Parts: sequence; C-alpha cells; structure tokens
Amino acid sequence: MPATVIVGLQWGDEGKGKTTDFLAEQTAMVVRYQGGDNAGHTVVRGDEVFKLRLTPSGVLYPHMTSVIGNGVVVNPLTLIDEFDMLTARGIDVARVRVSRSAHVIMPYHVALDRANEVRLGGAKVGTTGRGIGPAYGDRAWRIGLRMEDLLDRQVLRERIGRALLDKNLLLEAMGVDGFELETLVELAIGWGERLREHLDDTTWLVQGALARGDHVLFEGAQGTLLDLDHGSYPYVTSSNPVAGGACTGGGIGPLQVDEVIGVMKAYSTRVGSGPYPTELLDDIGAGIAERGREFGTVTGRPRRVGWFDAVPLRYAVAVNSVSSIMLDKLDHLSGIETIRGIVPLDTDDRRTETWPSSGAALSRATPVYEEFEGWPEPLHAIRSLADLPAAARRYVSAIEEYARVPIVLVSVGPERTQTIERVWPSMRRRLGVPA
Ligand code: IMP
Repeated sequence: MPATVIVGLQWGDEGKGKTTDFLAEQTAMVVRYQGGDNAGHTVVRGDEVFKLRLTPSGVLYPHMTSVIGNGVVVNPLTLIDEFDMLTARGIDVARVRVSRSAHVIMPYHVALDRANEVRLGGAKVGTTGRGIGPAYGDRAWRIGLRMEDLLDRQVLRERIGRALLDKNLLLEAMGVDGFELETLVELAIGWGERLREHLDDTTWLVQGALARGDHVLFEGAQGTLLDLDHGSYPYVTSSNPVAGGACTGGGIGPLQVDEVIGVMKAYSTRVGSGPYPTELLDDIGAGIAERGREFGTVTGRPRRVGWFDAVPLRYAVAVNSVSSIMLDKLDHLSGIETIRGIVPLDTDDRRTETWPSSGAALSRATPVYEEFEGWPEPLHAIRSLADLPAAARRYVSAIEEYARVPIVLVSVGPERTQTIERVWPSMRRRLGVPA
C-alpha cells in the first residue's frame, strides 16, 4: 500500500513542491490534505515556472490524478483562476478532483480575516489574509459551506443567510462593509456550475487508488511549526500540516501510510509574526534571502531568514514520524564563512532540548549555537554526496545526526535535475529494484 506523506518540518516554504515533482514519475495520484490558498507551491520545469496555490502540483503530469481533499478550505475564485491559468498554458485540468466535503472560503471569511488583523494591531498573526482562520472556524462551529452546497440554490440561500446575520454584525463593528445575501448566492451558484464536474467523493478515489497498489502522494501545505496544535500558538495557521493531517484531511487511516518524507531547508525561513530564535537580522541573512529568493509566493512579503535549528527539527521528526528527509536549498549557503546552527535552547535560565509548547516560552528562548565551517564552492552541478565539499558533507551529516533520520534527497538548485539522491529502501520497492 504505497502511500507517502510529504510534510514540511519548519514554517512552510521548505520545498515540498520540488519533492513532489521529484517523485512524480512513480506516482499516480497527489492529494492536498489541508490549508487553502494561503499556500504557494513553486514548481520549476525547464524554463517554465508554475506557482500553484490550491491545485496539487501533480496536475503538471498527464499521468496523474490531482486531488483536493476534504481537509482543504477552497476559495472557488482562486481555484477557477488557477484552472484558467493552467488551461491557457496547455495543461489539462480535467484530472483535478475536489472533495465534495471540502469547505468553501466565502468573501466574508476573507474580509473578517483582514479586518481582525487590523484590529489586533501589534499583536497580529501576520496571516496571508485569505480567510483561512474564519473558514476553518465556521467548519468547527458547523456553520460552514461545503463544496457540494454550491450546487443547491436553496441550501446556499439558507446557510449563507444564517451566517450573514453574525458576519455582517461583526464586520460592521470592525468598520467594514457587510455583504448582501443574493449577491453571494449568485456568486456561489456560478462557482458551483463551473466546478461541478470536478467534485467527487475523494476518500473513495484515494482508497481505490491504494487498493489497486498505485503510489499516492499526500502533499502537506505550510509546515509543522505552523501547525494549529504543534506550532507556536497563536502564531500558527488554522489546520494540521503534520502528517496526521493526511489521515483526517486526505481520507486514509494511519496504517495506510508507508513513508513520511520530511522536507526542510538547510537554513530556515518564516513568514508572518511569532517568535523565531535563530532569526538573522544581519547581512548574512539578507544574503541568504536574496540568493534563495525568499519572498512569499502568495503575499510577496519578504520571508524572515535564520539558521537551522535542531530543537524543533527533533520535535518535527517525532510528531510526524518522519522516515526520511529532503534537505532543500543547500546551495544557498555557499560562500558563508561560518555557518551556525542551534543545538539546545536556553529558556528561563534552563538549558533545554525540548521545543517549548507555547509561543510565549519560545519568545524567551536564547539559542545556543554550534559553528560549522562553510564552503566557498557553488554546488549546483553536484549530483552525489561524495562530490560535495568536505565542509558541506560535514554539515549535512550533522543535520542527519540531530534528526536521527536519513537524508535521502539534497537539493542544490531549483530544477528537478539539481538534486542529489540516495537510493533508499522504500524507493527501491516502488521502482521494483531489489534492495
Ligand atoms: P494564515 O494561514 O493565512 O491564517 O496565516 C497564519 C500564519 O501562517 C501566518 O504567519 C502566515 O504567514 C503563515 N502561513 C500561512 N501559509 C503559509 C505558507 O504557505 N508558507 C509560509 N507561511 C504561511
């Protein structure tokens, strides 16, 4: 039952899209299991760059089915725009299936998200302003709209009508215009007509593929440190990017997962507010940000950049049961004389190797660094670990030791071919190569 989960081990933007792209040839189906259009996956193919927010990157391969699972919150407007963009670039979107029970992001969710950030002022989360929190909030409160509701005018009128009573009151209290029922119903009916043929019972699609022995990839958005339960609350997103989210949001059980590939950068980045012990506010950070083109795919905001941190890495490996690691963007560290990385954290005068569960405790943490010798050589043309400069090899081995999990892929450039690959057991199995 070859199901692989690809999960971010940091604050998102780790290179999950590239990992999916790398494994694409062996894969029949890619499933997005949480998040919404707050995510941005960049996939580079030759001189073509695709920036996708909702559609799983599997859509770029004619042999693959792309699934938007029940755990995703869908802004239909973004999805339709994305379908139009892909179609204009010659990509067939008919193979994109969208769960009938995925929740819909309505315009009032977007307005509430943005107005609430303004109201929070200095305490704002720094959300992407896409309505993610309010949409998941309505889902939990059982007043949300699901994709299948877009097909029924009567249901739409009732549910939107009920929701609008509160939403408009709240919006007006925050100094923002409310919404008009009939306008929203017409909009939603239009979305439903357009997306009708993509709606499906995706749980049974996924189960069917696994029963046939097809290889299914579950693609997480954001990362473990932004997880609603495991991140530095409240500076988190409103879903569960951890591997367990693939079960609830993708329609599988835990015993159906055969491998969890954790994706991390050779340094770290974070978008939005919240504590970040290894943040670099100097020229080294600015240099990495420039070389790594560290700007948010969705909002264009500059990403905060910092050193690698072993403490949350161990936490992320544990809560995701990571079985192998993809190390992204090692090439961007070339030319730095001394690379630093956290080992333990000093929190409240105590040395700890445990990732603090609260954002407040984390903001009091002082990093304790280990130094690693850097390397001047560019790495873009290297295709095996043995050919890496000795200092780069030592750095990769140190991360592997902290993680206690093998690093099986190392990315040395944006293109698919710019990847160092170790052949690992489950991959041999998938390819039918004897171990
Ligand atoms: P929201 O998901 O828009 O509610 O934003 C909550 C937090 O998650 C903010 O700090 C965002 O910057 C962050 N965030 C959401 N999506 C991404 C992503 O795809 N990459 C990086 N950060 C993200």
